[in-house]
Amino acid sequence: MSGSGSGDDAGEPSGKLAELLKLLKMNGNDVAKLTQSQRKEMKDYKFWKTQPVATFDEPISEEGPIDRKKTPDEISSEPFPLLAEFEWCTMDVNDKSQVEDIFVLLNENYVEDRDASFRFKYTREFFNWSLKPPGWKKDWHVGVRVRSTGKLVAFISAIPVNLSVRGNVIKSVEINFLCVHKQLRGKRLAPVLIKEITRRVNKCDIWFALYTSGTVLPSPVSVCRYTHRPLNWNKLLDVGFVQLPPGASKPQMVANYTLPKGPTTKGLRPLKPEDVEQAHSLFEKYQRRFDLVQEFSKEEFSHWFLGGSEQMHATPDTKVIYSYVVENEHGKITDFFSFYSLPFTILNNSVHKELGIGYLFYYASDADLIYNNRFDPKATSALKERLSQLINDACILARNAKMDVFNALTSQDNALFLEKLKFGPGDGFLNFYLFNYRAFPITGGIQDDQDYDVKKRSNVGVVML
Ligand SMILES: CC(C)(COP(=O)(O)OP(=O)(O)OC[C@H]1O[C@@H](n2cnc3c(N)ncnc32)[C@H](O)[C@@H]1OP(=O)(O)O)[C@@H](O)C(=O)NCCC(=O)NCCS
Repeated sequence: MSGSGSGDDAGEPSGKLAELLKLLKMNGNDVAKLTQSQRKEMKDYKFWKTQPVATFDEPISEEGPIDRKKTPDEISSEPFPLLAEFEWCTMDVNDKSQVEDIFVLLNENYVEDRDASFRFKYTREFFNWSLKPPGWKKDWHVGVRVRSTGKLVAFISAIPVNLSVRGNVIKSVEINFLCVHKQLRGKRLAPVLIKEITRRVNKCDIWFALYTSGTVLPSPVSVCRYTHRPLNWNKLLDVGFVQLPPGASKPQMVANYTLPKGPTTKGLRPLKPEDVEQAHSLFEKYQRRFDLVQEFSKEEFSHWFLGGSEQMHATPDTKVIYSYVVENEHGKITDFFSFYSLPFTILNNSVHKELGIGYLFYYASDADLIYNNRFDPKATSALKERLSQLINDACILARNAKMDVFNALTSQDNALFLEKLKFGPGDGFLNFYLFNYRAFPITGGIQDDQDYDVKKRSNVGVVML
């Protein structure tokens, strides 16, 4: 349940717009206020108050599991009951027509407002990548169909991950792509989907989950902000994604966002299978700085950053994941970055049919690894300089791959380069949640006034799609 949000004048909306666009149109509040203003009283969370999740403002003295340890045998083998007109189905994402059903559901229902002019353009390749990492289980791709017609009307998925929360490794899942058909909203189907996926995951002896949402639920462990870097400002203006700020001219705006023709970092090249050993090791070292991370095996690293043989031979139309490394003159990989593509279909525009959107994914650099403390001023300045160079190249590569806007959260060390690289703060915020695990709050890269927190940065080191 993740996504990205909406933007300001600089780089308007993107990502899972629905709730973020409509619900999060607020400025000037601090994050606590933001969370408070959107949240209901705990007693009004009819579903969530029954679940093992931290409540708002709960004093936390110790981190760890919330529910007592159970065994899979204690978990029912029967799916949760559904109204008679619906039936559960396990989606086979290797079956073309079933994947088609999922992306029709998501493409048509992920954006909530009826007049939406943008829709996600999920593709078979995107699902192959995002739903089938090592260890994926068919049983965790859960659908609800109308019994009489077979129409898919709801979906939820889980993928296995090893999370590390301040060094404690917990076998978990990431929950994503929760979606209920627009015509079935407000009928309490979402809690049933959540309970059913929990049951299926528990049956595999996994008791924890990570999920994200623009909606405030009890209780976020971190909140990050969306940011947007226009790559093709004119097109963004044409499709209503950005507005011309008062007093500015179009040529000025275009000039402001113009990037060099090609990347500028010496030794930069696409990640290759033979780099995995080195790049994975660099990535592991880099990720240790954060409080919430996913531990990647080499196999997972290959999957997420090379994308399998299909992605390695992908055409620009089918390419989802873009990963690059910097190799120095001694053959050492010093840096790595990645971004993924999830475009929008543009509705009702006679000229533009698609909006290319790049999302910053994971990265690593050895720039500050010689320092014990990442907040040492010398470490900060070295990393700031290197990341600014690298992510600028990422923007250039994304632009060259026909992406029109590049999105990033305020997670990781992003606060170091966002402003410098002209990422404008969006209106969207993304809440991170842990299911059945109590944890101290984790910094999300935003200050109380919602500006980028360059000083503390973020301790969120996990990126969800
Ligand atoms: C999110 C979505 C599935 C919720 O469905 P719905 O029909 O509005 O909600 P239901 O009546 O079925 O259930 C309401 C319950 O689900 C909870 N809920 C709503 N959105 C949720 C989310 N994203 N994650 C977890 N729980 C959520 C509500 O808080 C409420 O529980 P509560 O009584 O404890 O507060 C639906 O709005 C949707 O498909 N939206 C578009 C896709 C999307 O935004 N997905 C989530 C991405 S994070």
